[in-house]
Amino acid sequence: MSSEENLRIGVYPGSFDPITRGHLDIIERSSRIFDRLVVGVLINSAKKPLFSADERVKMIQSVTRHLPNVEVRFFDGLTVDFAQSEHAHVIVRGLRAVTDFEYELQMAQMNYTMRPGIDTIFLTTDLRYAYLSSSIVREVAQYGGDISRFVPEEIVPLVKQKIRDSDGGGQTQEVR
Ligand code: COA
Repeated sequence: MSSEENLRIGVYPGSFDPITRGHLDIIERSSRIFDRLVVGVLINSAKKPLFSADERVKMIQSVTRHLPNVEVRFFDGLTVDFAQSEHAHVIVRGLRAVTDFEYELQMAQMNYTMRPGIDTIFLTTDLRYAYLSSSIVREVAQYGGDISRFVPEEIVPLVKQKIRDSDGGGQTQEVR
């Protein structure tokens, strides 16, 4: 029996394009629930990302430096397969509002049907971040708005630079 089997391991999947203060809040709280939390950055999103998967992984690593039991990796394919490969028994999702619920319920039920050994738990998002999403952050940045309340401090200049580099908000062509 591997020692991993005795650990409480969770995965927190998402696009994180870019990571917001809302995501970080979920990561910090989840890191207290699990022995090991693996943040999974989805590569093959239907969305065309602003940041490459490598960039998104590095950004999350830099803002979770203070959390020793948090690891960050990108993944492709199904979240349940990623969870299985990480020996995780739990998928963590954040619920911002009731509008998230229907989609999240469907995804959790589908995931449970595919892998009954892996449960989904939901953390309610901190009210301060209930309205946040990565695309809203990208949009505000694109029009020169202040995003410092929405993303961790060190992410602010990276988003601004990326928007400048991509000539007003174009998308990266990289997949990772
Ligand atoms: N704080 C701030 N923003 C949040 C948030 C929080 N706590 N939780 C979610 N969001 C934002 C996200 O940034 C995202 O914003 P965007 O649409 O502007 O990019 C939006 O809410 C939607 O988030 P989410 O539903 O988590 O989408 P996602 O793309 O980040 O992640 C996956 C979705 C990766 C979990 C899902 O697509 C997946 O599992 N894909 C793999 C394939 C698979 O297994 N599919 C399921 C089969 S049923």
